[in-house]
Amino acid sequence: MFLRYRIIIIVLITLFAVYNICIYSTKESSTFIKLSSQAVSGQQLWQENNCWSCHQIYGLGGYLGPDLTNVISHPSKGSQYVKAFLNSGIKSMPKFNFSEEEKNAIVSYLKHIDSTGYYPNYNAVFKPTGWVELKYKYNDRNEK
Ligand code: HEC
Repeated sequence: MFLRYRIIIIVLITLFAVYNICIYSTKESSTFIKLSSQAVSGQQLWQENNCWSCHQIYGLGGYLGPDLTNVISHPSKGSQYVKAFLNSGIKSMPKFNFSEEEKNAIVSYLKHIDSTGYYPNYNAVFKPTGWVELKYKYNDRNEK
């Protein structure tokens, strides 16, 4: 009687151990995203100057300004465009007196973010029938 319980408990503990080994030894959990040192200082500037209180990355952040996930790869935007906003400010966005080096760091950080995917990752297409079709953008850039 008790032996049977003991066997069940041993089996459960073994399964639990195997499960944990499988989960924590998969490659996914051990790959870290490496930022260049320039991008790291860009991230620091991003945090110190509260860019996130008005802007979003992947939809997360403040909502006074636009999402900046793909501002670098946007066909009519890009690094010079970002720098222009930092130089002059716009509406409620203050003018930042960044050095060229600091601006490059922020651009490098945004470039890195851009390389990780798309946000939003779909476009809504309105059909003449009244239905909305979602066209997904697939990120072939990070599927290396
Ligand atoms: C007080 C709020 C606020 C802060 C802080 C702020 N921004 Fe902005 N930002 C805005 C607003 C508002 C706009 C303009 C939105 C529009 O065009 O109507 C904007 C526009 C931009 C744009 C142009 C985006 C586009 O797609 O047209 C960039 C790039 C940008 N900001 C970068 C930054 C960076 C980098 C920082 C931090 C160093 C920052 N902003 C801090 C409010 C802010």
